[in-house]
Amino acid sequence: MEPWWKHAVIYQIYPRSFADSTGDGIGDLMGIRSKVPYLAETLGVDAIWLSPFYPSPQADFGYDVSDYCGVNPEYGTLADFDALVAACTEAGLKVIVDLVPNHSSDKHEWFIDSRSSIDSPKRDWYVWRDPAPDGGPPNNWLSVFGGPAWTLDERTGQYYLHSFLEEQPDLDWRNPAVRRAMADVLRFWLDRGVAGFRLDVAHRIGKDPEYRDDPMAEGSLDQLGKDMADYGTLDHVNSVGHPDAHGYFKEIRSVLDGYGDTFSVGEIHEGDWEKWASWHGDGDELHQVFDFSLLYAPWTAEGIGDLLDAQEAAVGDRFWPNHLMGNHDEPRLATRRGPAAARAAAVLLLTTRGTPTLYYGDELGMVDADIAADRQLDPWAEGAGVPGRDGCRTPMQWSADPHGGFSPATASSTWLPLADGFEERCVDEQIADHDSMLSLYRDLLTLRRVEPALHGGDYRRREAPDGVLAFERAGVFLVVVSFVDDPIEVPVPDSSVAISTDRSLDAKSVSGSLTLQGNQAIVLRLS
Ligand code: NOJ
Repeated sequence: MEPWWKHAVIYQIYPRSFADSTGDGIGDLMGIRSKVPYLAETLGVDAIWLSPFYPSPQADFGYDVSDYCGVNPEYGTLADFDALVAACTEAGLKVIVDLVPNHSSDKHEWFIDSRSSIDSPKRDWYVWRDPAPDGGPPNNWLSVFGGPAWTLDERTGQYYLHSFLEEQPDLDWRNPAVRRAMADVLRFWLDRGVAGFRLDVAHRIGKDPEYRDDPMAEGSLDQLGKDMADYGTLDHVNSVGHPDAHGYFKEIRSVLDGYGDTFSVGEIHEGDWEKWASWHGDGDELHQVFDFSLLYAPWTAEGIGDLLDAQEAAVGDRFWPNHLMGNHDEPRLATRRGPAAARAAAVLLLTTRGTPTLYYGDELGMVDADIAADRQLDPWAEGAGVPGRDGCRTPMQWSADPHGGFSPATASSTWLPLADGFEERCVDEQIADHDSMLSLYRDLLTLRRVEPALHGGDYRRREAPDGVLAFERAGVFLVVVSFVDDPIEVPVPDSSVAISTDRSLDAKSVSGSLTLQGNQAIVLRLS
């Protein structure tokens, strides 16, 4: 039997921004529960991935966990979590939760203990090192959020490592006690009925045992071409992805396997496809590794086509990729690509071979909010000199009501402002409009669900004119996507339009050739 996640579509929910049931302007678990019918029936996804909802001082909005086995009171209680899982299970939705294995909050009791003295029994749960001979940090590692990855603890005279904020100390996975504690965390949530985990910055748990300096990078861009400001000046070969992580993933996998048909997907930014594929092990490490390439790659037919080909070659029949085009760290799809290409991107994401992971609100074409400086909350913007991530984390747009139906109308405000145009780009407005983005997503999801060629078939690139990407799925569908603004003539076999970004073409027959309008995507059913 094939694992459930192979044919699934996953939907990422940022709990703070999905639905506010209490009126405090912050999303919560009961709010999510009230939207289960939307997720399972209206949209028709198979699983939700919840970004962290655990107790946290919110220095990095939940990615600084102060208790791995609880619920932050802002989001509800463990009983609410259980009720959410029960409602999802009844509706046929799987629940995936975020595991943040690389670092905890500095307010976690483990770190408070670890920091209390050099002799603390928890001292070696985190990475503590003596200062360099000049009193500076032990090596040149940098924090993703800017500045050195080390902070001196004046009282005990040692530096601790933090790959992100200084409020996010790195755990030391070389310590078996840490690994046992994390295995207990996995069991805690598996026992409550979750289907699996998304592992935050997964391969960072493997670090060079000698803590050697990272070499200089050739440019100030990371492997995927993303501008990472000062962090990009180093090549992070020693601070990230040491092969020891393979062993840690195997341990995690064996806990998961004890619970049957479970799932793990690693957040691993890796531009080398062979290395990327290696984190699946021999099917005994991560079930999937996120592929970020569709998110970052220049939007050209050749670029995207070559990426998909390279990935196919690396993955082959052994693994099943997981593609995404948006998440809580990146400008939204419709903001990055523009409204027309965002529709074509939806077709690509939902028809290429692999498991798609959707980001909440992208199904409405939500755009980034332009957030005034005095309302910006993301710590990254402040430290690393890069644009902050608040813009893509704004409240979900349910209706044209005050607060977009996210919070009750009586709420005084929402934690982040709503994005512009929420009155049109909302569920209520789009649901009955056949031309809307929401209808396009719904129909693509339905087609994908009922067609084995789309949710499980092979992928084969086809010849196409410049500016157009064409690929076949299992000889049943031909997908053609235009990446240019001008109309373009494309030769096609006898077929009928299964679905098109221009909805007026749906169900039409084509033969010989068709004219693709700029940024149009068409799924053809081959005769
Ligand atoms: C990756 C997460 O996606 C991001 O939101 C977070 O800030 C860092 N990891 C640190 O946990």
